[in-house]
Order: sequence, then structure tokens, then C-alpha cells
Amino acid sequence: MSEPMHFSEFDYYSRDNLKHMVLDFVQMHDFMQQPLVYDRGEGIYVWDAKGDKYLDGISGVWVMSLGHSNERIKQAMREQLDRLVFASPILSTNTRAMELVEMIGKRMPQGLTTVKLLSGGSEATETAIKLARQYYQNIGKPHKKKIISRYNNFHGVTLGALTATGMANRKAPFEPLTGGFLHIPPPGELRSPYPVAPADRDKLAAQMLETVIQYEGADNIAAFIAEPIQLSTGNVVPSDDYWPLIRQICDRYDVMLILDEIATGVGRTGKMWAADHWGIAPDIMCAGKGLSAGYSPLSAVGFSDKVADAFISQDREKAFADGHTYGGNPLTCAAGIAALQELDERNLIPQVAEMGEYLMTKLQDLRELGVIGDIRGKGLMIGVEFVKDPETLESFPKETEFGLRVGRNTIHQKKMLIRSAPNWVAVAPPFITTCAEIDDMVGRLGEAIFEELGKLKQ
Ligand SMILES: Cc1ncc(COP(=O)(O)O)c(C=O)c1O
Repeated sequence: MSEPMHFSEFDYYSRDNLKHMVLDFVQMHDFMQQPLVYDRGEGIYVWDAKGDKYLDGISGVWVMSLGHSNERIKQAMREQLDRLVFASPILSTNTRAMELVEMIGKRMPQGLTTVKLLSGGSEATETAIKLARQYYQNIGKPHKKKIISRYNNFHGVTLGALTATGMANRKAPFEPLTGGFLHIPPPGELRSPYPVAPADRDKLAAQMLETVIQYEGADNIAAFIAEPIQLSTGNVVPSDDYWPLIRQICDRYDVMLILDEIATGVGRTGKMWAADHWGIAPDIMCAGKGLSAGYSPLSAVGFSDKVADAFISQDREKAFADGHTYGGNPLTCAAGIAALQELDERNLIPQVAEMGEYLMTKLQDLRELGVIGDIRGKGLMIGVEFVKDPETLESFPKETEFGLRVGRNTIHQKKMLIRSAPNWVAVAPPFITTCAEIDDMVGRLGEAIFEELGKLKQ
């Protein structure tokens, strides 16, 4: 028998060890050339296994809103470890889960007071879809099954959530996906496909929903699901009339509005929910990521009494036919409770709005580099889109992948973690980030853009 290895002897950077890992959406061939292996975190910083320090400009993945070492959450989890770490979600609930449901319900928009607790974003969006379908079945409208979503939106990777997702490259290897899903074009994109004045484009995008409902027949449509701010194309924000119009259309045709606030919720945009920016409430809302501030996997689906009542009956078949082993886990719920308390007591959400404005203003300075077509987002969730010519908005040639180059430089040279795609980069720092740290972040990003532009000209 071989001797157990001490971790001090473990080579975290050897290809032999790395090649047995599979990261999310990452080509491991590329990752092995420049691996990132985190070992510890504190505040808005993380350290890798070599001891290099990185500024976490993306809060993990829009998750670590309270930073990497929040004492209140750690203490709440320690106490819960000594009390109860698991409760069967098919036999029971538990004290922490009940407290958390109450806290989330009080914070959800207009009366979404029933909350199903889950572990991840894909679980939540898929549960929301199933909830809408079974709701209509339970109330005697069994044909209302189809789900409408939008191109370029991301709702997760499990087969149902992926089917609702509107990104061809994420879906292609798994086609054919499940039936009963339709997609419409999204609003707010820099280059709209519609030959109408910019002010009318998002109105037209909203009207697409009505058109599709009419063609398909409202009696066949259960729900419309969308991200309020489109993260997957670099934080695209629709114009102010879009969401109120969508709400009206859903009401007119008795179609449930499901908002996927996995990334935008729990203060990230400077309000509790992104929906609050437009004064609308969905029928079903999905929250995740920042809900536990990243200390334990937690997501939730909130819905109204009207929806909840359709599942409470003497008929056992009407019970919601859905569940996950770790839903409502007491240790996770302890983290979620402490995270929400921390947000409230430190009054952090208004601070996100303020710091978001500061970040937005600072980022404007980068326009002088001559390659920025758009800076967009709300609160501490901002995307920067690169173009070859800011006047005409002409893109860089596809193969340039300027956003990815800037992303790699920012992470590996400037030691700041951000999200990048071929045409854009995104930042989403923890809510506790200071003005000086934002100056530092923008400085690092500016240097990376400058250096990558220099390389293009060589
Ligand atoms: C808007 C949105 N929905 C759903 C998901 C899926 O969440 P998870 O990765 O926790 O399954 C994500 C993840 O990034 C997301 O941003």
C-alpha cells in the first residue's frame, strides 16, 4: 500500500494532476498552459497555491458579495456545524430552513412569499419552469406547457435549463434538447437586428413576445423566462419601457413571468432585485449566487400564494413533483441567513448603488484608449464592450478576440480576476470594495487594454 501523501508535497501545477480535472466550459488544454489554482481568500483578495495575490474583480462568479472572509457567516456556519448539518428534505424541514424562507419571502417583490430552497442556479430555473407547467396542470389548464425564453440568455446547464438558454454554442453538443421551448430575440443589444429607431427597438423586442404567444396560442404557453439584465452578453440592460411592457403582455395572456435573478439578485445591481429598477414583479423569481454570499451552495425559487395554493390539496398528485437532496440544507441555510442579516445591518445595498456609480464613472476614463463601444450595467455589475471603431461601432475581426486577450492579461499579468468573452469583459467586485480599490481595479484593467492594443499594433 502506498503512503498517504502530505499536501505540502502535492504539485498543484503538474500536468499529471491537472489533466484529471474538468473545469466549467474551459478547454483543459489551454488551462494547463496557464493554470489558476486558488488556495485561500480574504476580503476582496484570493491567493493561489504559489502565493500570488489576486484582486477578485468578479466576486468568484458574481457570488462572493461579502468578500472571502466574512466573520458573521463563518461563525453562523460553525455554530450550525455543532447543531445539525443535514435534514431530510422528503421527510422534514428544519429550523434554519424555515427562518431563511421567511427572510427571503419578506424580501421578494410583491407577495412572492412561498420559497423553495435549492442548491444551484440551474436547479432553480428548471424548478421554476416545472412549477409553471404543473401549476397550469393543477388548475385544469393542462395544455399550457410551452416555455418562451430569449436568445443570448443563460439559464443554466441541466437539460431543461439549457433548453431555455438561448446560446447556440452552449447547446450544440447536446441537441436535440427537450421539447416545448421557443425563443425570441432579446432587447438592448448594441447592434440591434431591427430596422427601427433605437428608441423603438426594445419595444419591438417586447412585442415579439406577444406575437409569438398569438401564433402559438395563449392556451399553450405556460411561462416566459428571462434574465432582467443579460449577463451572458456582457450585462446588456434593456430600455426602461421593456419590462413594464413584458409584464403587461404576460398578464394579458395569462402567461407566467419568470425572472432569472440568479446573478442580478440580492443587491448586485444596487437594489435587492434588478426587477426593482423597473417597478415590476414576476410571478416566479429565481435567486442564487449571492444569496449565501458564496459560503455554501444556495438558490431559491419564490412564488405567490396564488401559485402556491394550486399545489395544496387533498389530491396527492397535485403536490409539487420536484426536489433535490440538498435543498434547504441547514448548514447552507445558516450561511444564507447570516448573509442576508449582514446585507441589512451594514446597509450594503445602497452602498452597491453608490459604488456602482463610482465604478461606472471611473470606467469612462478608459474610453480614451479608443476601443470601447459601450460600458453598461447597474450597480456593481458592469460590462465593457470593445470595438475597433467607437464612432461606427465596427467590431474587431472575429479572430482578434480582443476581449479574451484583455481578460487573460488582466488575470495573469495584472493579477485581477474578471470575466471575459471575445468582445467584452465584465467586472463585479464584492460589495465591500472601497473607492481606492475600485481605482486600483480600473487602473489594472486600463493597463491590460493598453498593453493588448500595443501587441495588436506590432
Ligand atoms: C442568469 C443565470 N441563470 C442561471 C445560472 C446557472 O447557475 P448555476 O451555475 O448555479 O447552475 C447562471 C450561472 O451563471 C446565471 O448567470
